[in-house]
Amino acid sequence: MSTARVRVRSLAKINLDLRVLNRRPDGYHDLRTIFQTVSLADTIDIECRPGRTRIDINSSFNISPNIIEKTADAILKATKKTARIGFVLQKRIPLGGGLGGGSSNAAAVLLALPALLGKPLSMEKRMEIAASLGSDVPFFLLGGTAVGIGRGTELYPLPELPSLPALLITPGIHVSTPDAYRALNRPQAESHAPARFQEAARHVAEGDPPAAWNVENDFEPVVFRQHSHLELIKGKLLKLGARPALMSGSGSTMFGIFANRQIRDRAEAWFRKEFADNQVRRVSLIRRGQYRAMWRRQLGAGLDTKLWPWQSQDRYAK
Ligand code: C5P
Repeated sequence: MSTARVRVRSLAKINLDLRVLNRRPDGYHDLRTIFQTVSLADTIDIECRPGRTRIDINSSFNISPNIIEKTADAILKATKKTARIGFVLQKRIPLGGGLGGGSSNAAAVLLALPALLGKPLSMEKRMEIAASLGSDVPFFLLGGTAVGIGRGTELYPLPELPSLPALLITPGIHVSTPDAYRALNRPQAESHAPARFQEAARHVAEGDPPAAWNVENDFEPVVFRQHSHLELIKGKLLKLGARPALMSGSGSTMFGIFANRQIRDRAEAWFRKEFADNQVRRVSLIRRGQYRAMWRRQLGAGLDTKLWPWQSQDRYAK
């Protein structure tokens, strides 16, 4: 192995719908969610040299324990390789904002590092490592629109949505994810997918316009109770034409999806003027076909073409 380097984009996600069912004996909750990749991205430069194992991370943020380091470690173990690996992380996805930034970074390393090491690693093994790193990590190995069940790690791709324009509004509010789950106070019992989730997933799967989706996020009532500002943002997004407007994950980012750019741009201008304390970001929904094309561009011949057995789903990409 000679020195190899690559620059990759690591995209954020939103939850188009999120229902939390029962508490499980392992401390997690069973979920029913719809994940969606969006265009907001961190950039990760990865350099890999032969030698004794050493992992360096250069970033303006110091997240401990660093999920990128943990991922690199797990890949070296799984491929039985040693290497000197350097990462430079440019963070744009807000931390703790419900956008899966850390999880996305982990998945980006899972997609890129085996290619740099020149070692194949099956999708099954990558999925297994991903699930051990966090509940949202496996989704980023697929991208696009997907239903997540169980802990959120069991994934079913949905047909592609159009690349609709959206806004992400992130106030400087930190919501603790474990606290949000606790506040839901779910029973420790078996339960079934709520009919309302199945209804929402069917709307998305059948390509109904977002205005007809009827989506929900179970965390909204408990998080809004503590942070009324978030409910205010939701109301403003709806008033400015977003359909739907919802919280992502356990917050605190609120998103709005818009039928076209003009409506979105008007809403963006309003938030920048009136809610100047909040971070306002314009994004678009990223389809699975676009996500995979991005990875093909980023890794070129290094991308294992056997990684994505659901190639046939790409036919939904227009
Ligand atoms: O898997 P991850 O590390 O992202 O989860 C963070 C925390 O969120 C867990 O420790 C748990 O408290 C909660 N969680 C949960 N059920 C899930 C996912 C996360 O209770 N399906």
